[in-house]
Amino acid sequence: MSDRYLNIALPKGRLGEKAYGLLAKAGYECPSVLEESRKLIFEDEGNKVRYFWVKPSDVAVYVERGSADMGIVGSDTILETEPSIYELLDLNIGKCTMSVAGPKGFTDDRSRVLRVATKYPNITRDYYDGLGRDIDVIKLNGSIELAPILALSDVIVDIVETGNTLRENGLIKYTDIMDISARLISNKVSYKFLYGRMTELMKALENVVKEEALKA
Ligand code: PRP
Repeated sequence: MSDRYLNIALPKGRLGEKAYGLLAKAGYECPSVLEESRKLIFEDEGNKVRYFWVKPSDVAVYVERGSADMGIVGSDTILETEPSIYELLDLNIGKCTMSVAGPKGFTDDRSRVLRVATKYPNITRDYYDGLGRDIDVIKLNGSIELAPILALSDVIVDIVETGNTLRENGLIKYTDIMDISARLISNKVSYKFLYGRMTELMKALENVVKEEALKA
């Protein structure tokens, strides 16, 4: 094995912990990754793998620019930001839908521009362009469900996993736009230079994903 570390960007939070769980099962364990600390970089000398914890929406930025060779990212972020990366594997975790939601009883008056709050302006525009519907996109960074409640928007386009956030805020889902799940991605140049090791990791992960699917 070459001495070069394989740098892997993990998304901080629940999805990252699940993704690390799959990597550990695939033989890429580095237990210190899960220690409670403010540390962001962890090295597994045996496998020559280095993990980074990064903000989920930044994973593809690190990978696209080569600071990370590989990363785990939601397909929502890939579709929204269209990074120049390779998508290697659907990990079948972080499953949710990108959906349109809003207050109960809302009816769309097509003579008016529809105000849509979202963290995903590109996905939102593409979706409504496809419907030929004029919209005003209101880009927010979180707590999207507040927007229709405070009359900042008519509806929202956001990810829905359990549906709890919608329910607890008195909103309902109208339409699913697409299914979302986490993907293993790689930098394009690293993929050429580290092809053997990346393929090995990808195959091991693929087997774990299949085993997990059988358990479900
Ligand atoms: C996401 C999303 C919804 C919620 C959906 O928010 O924007 O608010 O999760 O999950 P649920 O259907 O299981 O309730 P996130 O937790 O990322 O926080 P944010 O509001 O800061 O974006």
